[in-house]
Amino acid sequence: MTILLRHVESRDSIALQDIYSDPDAYGGTLQTPYPTEDTWKRRIESLPEGSVSLVAESDGKIIAHGAVICAARSPRRKHVGQLGIVVHRDWRQQGVGSTLLAALIDTAENWLNLSRIELDVYTDNAPAIALYKKHNFQTEGTHPHYAFRNGEYVDCYSMARIRE
Ligand SMILES: CC(C)(COP(=O)(O)OP(=O)(O)OC[C@H]1O[C@@H](n2cnc3c(N)ncnc32)[C@H](O)[C@@H]1OP(=O)(O)O)[C@@H](O)C(=O)NCCC(=O)NCCS
Repeated sequence: MTILLRHVESRDSIALQDIYSDPDAYGGTLQTPYPTEDTWKRRIESLPEGSVSLVAESDGKIIAHGAVICAARSPRRKHVGQLGIVVHRDWRQQGVGSTLLAALIDTAENWLNLSRIELDVYTDNAPAIALYKKHNFQTEGTHPHYAFRNGEYVDCYSMARIRE
């Protein structure tokens, strides 16, 4: 499989609406069911400066999206990026997430000078936790009842990768 990585564009809003309509995608993140194309268009167009948002394409179809959003609302946190990643269910467990994550880390650390990449992941999301550990993210703590998901509260881990 040949994967093309490129920056997200406004025209990708329909593809992102499709990817995030999947229950695993909104269930594994902080997104909500029935995402609108408009919401994704606005997100794409209001990406904070110093952030990176990439899509992975195979045969012209978008199969994954991931971003590191610069936390520069405070000047003292401008070295920090917040990570999110989703692979379309038909392309999971084929190395797409790992390829996309490696590109996000490289761009964030070596080009945008983000030396701390942080994320929150539900404690029962074994695939995501394994992916992050593989890329040297460390678990920093647990947040009980961090979010509401499908009728109940779920715990999450805070994980981060610090550039050496
Ligand atoms: C988490 C996610 C992005 C992984 O993407 P992926 O393309 O399937 O991951 P890869 O195929 O690149 O796998 C990378 C590593 O992750 C781990 N992994 C992936 N799927 C796994 C699974 N089902 N069970 C256990 N480990 C898994 C493995 O360590 C794997 O490395 P290996 O192949 O060398 O063993 C994908 O499952 C997904 O989109 N989930 C729904 C959305 C989500 O939860 N996003 C994360 C929010 S914090």
